[in-house]
Amino acid sequence: MQGSANLNLMIKAARKAARALVKDFREVENLQVSAKGPGDFVSKADREAERIIKEELLGARPTYGWLGEETGTAEGQDPTRRWIVDPLDGTTNFLHGIPHWAISIALEHKGEIVSAVVYDPAKDEMFFAEKGAGCWLNDNRRLRVSGRRALHESIFATGVPFGAKRTLPATLKDFSQLLPATAGVRRMGAAALDLAWVAAGRYEGYWERELNAWDIAAGILLVKEAGGLVEGLREGQDPLESGSVLAANEQIFASFAKTLRG
Ligand code: IPD
Ligand code: CA
Ligand code: CA
Repeated sequence: MQGSANLNLMIKAARKAARALVKDFREVENLQVSAKGPGDFVSKADREAERIIKEELLGARPTYGWLGEETGTAEGQDPTRRWIVDPLDGTTNFLHGIPHWAISIALEHKGEIVSAVVYDPAKDEMFFAEKGAGCWLNDNRRLRVSGRRALHESIFATGVPFGAKRTLPATLKDFSQLLPATAGVRRMGAAALDLAWVAAGRYEGYWERELNAWDIAAGILLVKEAGGLVEGLREGQDPLESGSVLAANEQIFASFAKTLRG
């Protein structure tokens, strides 16, 4: 797919940050054996990754606004455009040497996500989408959500946010309803990749509570452009406003939503 200049810029920024993160990840693997562990080191790694992405994106588009997990919000001169960035999604995996984490970059225009990149350096998988231009993996693979229609054949993903106590009972209830009715539930620890994998047809659906915009902004567009449906956990809710998300292929969305919404 021939992407826009903004999309190419996002891909370039993601690759640049990935080079730094991959170096740090190798170091983390070594630090696992030390008594102190790699905790402080990792919080430096994600701050540095955000610095690299910010420099690339705002260097090229100085008038755009910013929302990043590590550096927060900044109004741009152009109030209609904003970058939404999670420099390292799946920090707990990264910290434990588990190669399942990603860089997530979205561009919002007039309140709508128009371009999205989720990059998984460990598998060298670059997921990207632009509004109206489909969802793609690496150079030339167009992605479609899965075609499975039956819950009992389907795999779903979820996340349990770090320290989330408020919504834990609800999530446990979801598990007790979904596990017997489906082919399984995965909890892999990187929301941006959970959505990317729904877009790629690997999971039939994904849901989670207590999320931030930077976790899901890019992934939502991936799923929509791959032909899937995305809502908040309550019917009609906007996931970016509510911080909850329910995403699935169109065929299974209704039965998946019914199981979770009761
Ligand atoms: C977290 C991951 C995790 C999800 C949490 C997020 P972080 O992001 O996406 O899968 O369950 O809600 O906060 O902290 O690794 O960037
Ligand atoms: Ca995140
Ligand atoms: Ca993060």
